Amino acid sequence: MKITIIGTGYVGLVSGAVFADWGHNVMCLDIDKDKVDKINKGIMPIYEEGLEELVKKVSSEGRFKATTDYKSSIEHGELIFICVGTPSNQAGAANLNYVFSAAESIGKYMPNDEYKVVITKSTVPVGTHNKVREHVRIGAGNKKINFDVASNPEFLREGTSIYDANNTDRVVIGSDSEKALDILEDLYKHLDAPIVKTDLASAELIKYAANSFLATKISFINEISQICERTGADVKSVALGMGLDKRIGSRFLNAGIGYGGSCFPKDVEALYRTSSEYFYDFRLLRGVMDANERQKDYFVDKVFRKYGTNLSELTFGVLGAAFKNGTDDTRKSVAISVIRTLRGAGARIKLFDPAALENAKKELGQDNVKYSDNAEDVFKKADALFILTEWPEFANLEYPELVKDMNKKVIFDGRNLLDPIEMKDLGVEYYGVGRKDDADDTHENGVK
Ligand code: UGA
Repeated sequence: MKITIIGTGYVGLVSGAVFADWGHNVMCLDIDKDKVDKINKGIMPIYEEGLEELVKKVSSEGRFKATTDYKSSIEHGELIFICVGTPSNQAGAANLNYVFSAAESIGKYMPNDEYKVVITKSTVPVGTHNKVREHVRIGAGNKKINFDVASNPEFLREGTSIYDANNTDRVVIGSDSEKALDILEDLYKHLDAPIVKTDLASAELIKYAANSFLATKISFINEISQICERTGADVKSVALGMGLDKRIGSRFLNAGIGYGGSCFPKDVEALYRTSSEYFYDFRLLRGVMDANERQKDYFVDKVFRKYGTNLSELTFGVLGAAFKNGTDDTRKSVAISVIRTLRGAGARIKLFDPAALENAKKELGQDNVKYSDNAEDVFKKADALFILTEWPEFANLEYPELVKDMNKKVIFDGRNLLDPIEMKDLGVEYYGVGRKDDADDTHENGVK
């Protein structure tokens, strides 16, 4: 099939490369010339496991090309996927300007009477399909155009997106046209995954419902971690015991400093907004967002309880800046937010992240933050070590040796990567999230 992708962010670039790998002929359109030139040279604008190799492979096989040229790329695709960003606007709702402008361009360059399916992959609020259709028509003016709209939300996770695209749990396609549904089913039918064919509104809502549910799971276990701290229970044991119930499942039950990234915070908030617009007060989601905000504050409060609120005499080693492991992405990263709070209270920071240092530099600058190119370095002379991103390699460092380099053996583990007992045995004052044997016993048995 001939496929056009508009937008070369995570979703667009990965989808384009994967479709090409499946044998389709893909053109990826972006307005950013520099980005397009780089992609065509095999230089990726984002770090994503396996992406560079895949783009190089499909480009050399002649099935993948990035371009800034609207006309040729829109003429090219029988399927045109809109994959542009939908950042939150100031009110917390999704900003759809990029989506609508892409839709208008599609209308403008769509050839007369040639059937095309315009598919939204970007996460857009329920009902957006009607506006996409309208904007394609506005772009087309008086031209006679022949198209259907469809919704095909993307469930890939940053860091594992190529694997996810080939191993998805399900494919969701929504349309009011049987023809469009059949074409899209054809695209995905080789995958070993159920295909949910549904109406447009349901397809759009599935994405928000799924992300919000996963965020709810995280906020739930984070709330449980608070009860653990107050009762002497251990959140890891509680999560294990809960997660083995197949109806619950063990994934997304890791307590920590809260969820971040470019999806969960934005999507939970946008679903809450949509609910309000339809005069429904989705209180559970309000609670999910509040719990997420509070979780980070509870973590930082442990630091303030130990040192007071003036940290200006202290140097902290920090492991992790990305919003999760496996990515260089620092957008809405709770790690960055915690670092800002610590620095704001006067602390000097020495930071390492295996992939996100460049983005961290852009977010944090040089003021009281030094960047290390290896994990070991941040222990040296540190008054405390912070683990803020769940990179698995942070669990496997040579702690017995490394803590000897510290000024004080204190660890604040915001992702519960380490074992409190092992740390205690090394003479470390260990602070986790909802762990038994945490050095902070302020809440033990409900006593403050
Ligand atoms: C999320 C969804 O998992 C994808 O299915 C979806 O396609 C994507 O959003 C999207 O909407 O595009 P992603 O944002 O890449 O994917 O990251 P996740 O792996 O879901 O993690 C989100 C946040 O939750 C991270 O900050 C992570 O550290 C945190 N998290 C995750 C926890 O705190 N605990 C957990 O148990 C799991």
